[in-house]
Amino acid sequence: MEKFTSLTILVLLIVNIGILWKSCTALNNGLALTPPMGWMSWQRFRCIIDCDQFPDECISEKLFKTAVDYMVNDGYKDAGYEYVIIDDCWLEKNRTTDGKLQADKKRFPNGMKHLSDYVHSKGLKFGIYEDYGNKTCEGYPGILGHMKEDAETFASWGVDYVKLDGCYSDIWDMETGYPEFGKYLNNTGRPIVYSCSWPAYQEYAGMKINFQLLVNYCNLWRNYNDIQDSYSSLTDIMDYFAMKQDYWQQYAGPGHWNDPDMLIIGNFGLSYEQSKAQMAVWAILAAPLLMSMDFRTIQPEYKAILQNKNIIAVNQDKLGIQGRRVFKDKDIDIWARPTEPIVNGYHSFAIAFISRRSDGAPYKYNATLKHIGLFNPAGYQIKDMYLNDVDEFKMTILYPELPLVARIPPTGCVFFRAKSLAHTEL
Ligand SMILES: *[C@@H]1O[C@H](CO)[C@@H](O)[C@H](O)[C@H]1NC(C)=O
Ligand SMILES: *[C@@H]1O[C@H](CO)[C@@H](O)[C@H](O)[C@H]1NC(C)=O
Ligand SMILES: *[C@@H]1O[C@H](CO)[C@@H](O)[C@H](O)[C@H]1NC(C)=O
Ligand SMILES: *[C@@H]1O[C@H](CO)[C@@H](O)[C@H](O)[C@H]1NC(C)=O
Repeated sequence: MEKFTSLTILVLLIVNIGILWKSCTALNNGLALTPPMGWMSWQRFRCIIDCDQFPDECISEKLFKTAVDYMVNDGYKDAGYEYVIIDDCWLEKNRTTDGKLQADKKRFPNGMKHLSDYVHSKGLKFGIYEDYGNKTCEGYPGILGHMKEDAETFASWGVDYVKLDGCYSDIWDMETGYPEFGKYLNNTGRPIVYSCSWPAYQEYAGMKINFQLLVNYCNLWRNYNDIQDSYSSLTDIMDYFAMKQDYWQQYAGPGHWNDPDMLIIGNFGLSYEQSKAQMAVWAILAAPLLMSMDFRTIQPEYKAILQNKNIIAVNQDKLGIQGRRVFKDKDIDIWARPTEPIVNGYHSFAIAFISRRSDGAPYKYNATLKHIGLFNPAGYQIKDMYLNDVDEFKMTILYPELPLVARIPPTGCVFFRAKSLAHTEL
């Protein structure tokens, strides 16, 4: 017991030193103070480059201009989505004769500056993909050996966000190479969000990840495997983040975020209920909200999930505290995230009940607020953020000893906001 106590104190000390250290050394480009929101081509459009056969789906100027127009005209921009990000497969296979990166001439006939200007003219921001290696994952030129000039090229194109992947690179060089590229980005003088993929590669190789270095040099970083368009991929990522949360959670905060990868909502693999579950858990995790669906074909109920203002507000909470899976019971996972407002020292919360069950009917589950970690004696105002069937339990005010009751559809989710109250209301 004594041993445990001194160990605990030591751990707390280290964590505290970590926090102090962090506050003076985190990447200071003034960006991503809340998790970045936008749209990225990869999950839905991958490396489709045959524009003759797939003119509406190929990675091209047309695809991204279409995305920009839908972002603006269909309410996504108003909901907070801001970055339009090109993933892999935008490049020519060769650099120019003087060594510069160039966009595929057929698919981006007017070049990247033109596309960037278009994005900016609509009040949005422009993101691009490259790779810290000899090649990108799909075999296009990487930045190795050209880091300075590539950072300058991006700045000259008006790039606002760089996702730097890690294929065809040496895993042992990443901890020096990624920061080096970050310095070149900084030297351009242009504020550019920097998304680093290096921990995903090191995690895969079983290495210990230096998160302090990530906090110092990156605005966000991919921790784990790429998401695929399936429920099993989604649950694998949720379980992995829950398993690692004691280590990873502390490094998330304004300007520096863990990234569980894109939202797959609106594509082929998730049901409506499963889509609600992804949106809820990504809000709890303070995850970047990077959509990757086809704006032209998404069904309205999926669009409503992506544009749910209450949930986006949780994701974008200014405190930037990453939430956790608090416990699991009867195949229900209970996730919670402390948020503003803080009243008499008690945080408000977002609370998600995520069902992993498949037994037909919605499953009725309850847990006391206290058990979930909510202790404000003055109570909480409870709101269902998806406004689905809490039917007979239309709760408004709850106290720590009282049960929060939900009926959770199979593989779905019920997502509550619990607003901390100043005094007991009668
Ligand atoms: C570059 O880094 C310095 C030092 O952290 C910071 O003050 C500055 O805002 C950064 N500039 C850009 C453009 O990121
Ligand atoms: C691209 O570069 C490679 C290697 O430098 C060269 O062999 C090849 O001819 C180039 N291809 C084109 C189309 O310029
Ligand atoms: C990148 O290419 C150079 C030149 O071919 C080679 O020497 C180097 O080993 C390569 N690096 C990696 C990480 O593959
Ligand atoms: C909460 O769950 C417990 C144990 O399953 C049960 O006894 C109780 O009636 C439930 N309360 C409500 C309000 O559903």
